[in-house]
Amino acid sequence: MKSLDIIEAEHRSMARVASAFDALDRLVSKSALPVARAHAATVADLLGYVSAYVDLVHHAKEHACLHRMLRLRDPELIPSVDRLQTEHRQAALRCEVLLNQAHDFTQGQGGDADVLAEAVREFSNSMRSYLRLEEKVILPAARACLTVDDWRAVDAAFAENQDPLFGTPALPEFEELLGKIVQLVPMECRPGVPLTGTAGGRARESGHARSVLEVRGLTSHYGRIQALHGIDLDVREGQLVALVGANGAGKTTLLRTLSGVHPVSGGTIRLFDQDITHLAPGKRVRTGLCQVPEGRQVFGPMSIEDNLRLGAYTRSDDQIATDLERMYGLFPVLKEKRQLPAGTLSGGQQQMLAMARALMGRPRLLLLDEPSMGLAPLLVEEIFRVIARLKSEGITIFLVEQNAHAALAIADIGYVIETGRTILTGTGAELLRNEQVKQAYLGM
Ligand SMILES: Nc1ncnc2c1ncn2[C@@H]1O[C@H](COP(=O)(O)OP(=O)(O)OP(=O)(O)O)[C@@H](O)[C@H]1O
Ligand SMILES: [Mg+2]
Repeated sequence: MKSLDIIEAEHRSMARVASAFDALDRLVSKSALPVARAHAATVADLLGYVSAYVDLVHHAKEHACLHRMLRLRDPELIPSVDRLQTEHRQAALRCEVLLNQAHDFTQGQGGDADVLAEAVREFSNSMRSYLRLEEKVILPAARACLTVDDWRAVDAAFAENQDPLFGTPALPEFEELLGKIVQLVPMECRPGVPLTGTAGGRARESGHARSVLEVRGLTSHYGRIQALHGIDLDVREGQLVALVGANGAGKTTLLRTLSGVHPVSGGTIRLFDQDITHLAPGKRVRTGLCQVPEGRQVFGPMSIEDNLRLGAYTRSDDQIATDLERMYGLFPVLKEKRQLPAGTLSGGQQQMLAMARALMGRPRLLLLDEPSMGLAPLLVEEIFRVIARLKSEGITIFLVEQNAHAALAIADIGYVIETGRTILTGTGAELLRNEQVKQAYLGM
């Protein structure tokens, strides 16, 4: 999903441009006429970049590939994609009108500074509304519903991407404009500084979201054998964090110490800023931690619906029936078979039941232990689609997997664990590109 990195980088660039427009609209309306004209010329240069690069290059790729696939994969997305297309067409028109307005003002051919400033402000607001729609609806949906092959095609369309202004380096003819942008925008919007606040995902990755889980120096033993040797990791609200590692690396042991069913011998675990290192497992569940264990462990003789109800055992609210329906919406196959014993389900269906059962506890942090284990490739894809969808619904997830490729592809942040130690961390995309990870876990 290299294209997602590119799209996110483009969004940061567009957010920078919007921020530069904000500064320019104030400068145009408040400066003496000759200075205001110079700022209007910068507005025109920026619009030139927006229309030549963002519209013609970036949007064309999204339109021809990403948006087309979204329409095919999920008809429910068609209205949002249509809205995005309409907004884009309108923005292109607005861009042209504003460009003429800025040119005329720059060359002293009339126009009121306040009118131009107002038009610049409207333009930057429309850019932000477009970015919001993409980030809140389109990109999460793409993460949830596109297949590995779809991403391959989208990645191919986005290959050979070189932003002339914010690429490294900027093309010579854009250097001066880049210098002006750096002067105009606040420190946190400058190129090279990760931008927070506009892209939801980025805000989460960059550490501004609330801490959900904080593990420091965690150690654990089986008798005299040490299985965990000082694990450090962080999960923040809304994130999907993946821990990947080979057989026997300590993944399950880590999850079992997090949920309290295996003792800790050193270090600390904090959940929502509360020290839970020595809290009883049941109390952890009440604090919002829910684990889907390795090998599913559904109650075979009990009906599917009773298994689900069991997941809500810590709750006394009146939303349980509503949540049951929500689970049936998320996993339709469970609805069809709700009265049958859980033992009659296939492996993939039992995995869905195990996940739905955990969700019935309304977890604030969902721990998944190798959900793809033992499943056929098609079902593996299905399970990862469901996990990506849960993430897009705002559920915070800590996913443990041997299937490093699939897990890192949907993760915001990844950790690699070897013999009880976390040896690497980075964004999911960074780890997928990492040579060590490629060789050891991706078979490349
Ligand atoms: N009940 C146990 N008694 C003794 N040693 C154990 C026990 N369970 C696990 N271990 C050891 O602890 C280490 C970590 O095992 P763990 O099951 O946590 O690994 P894992 O990463 O989950 O592996 P897998 O991918 O096979 O599930 C291994 O060396 C394993 O042999
Ligand atoms: Mg395991």
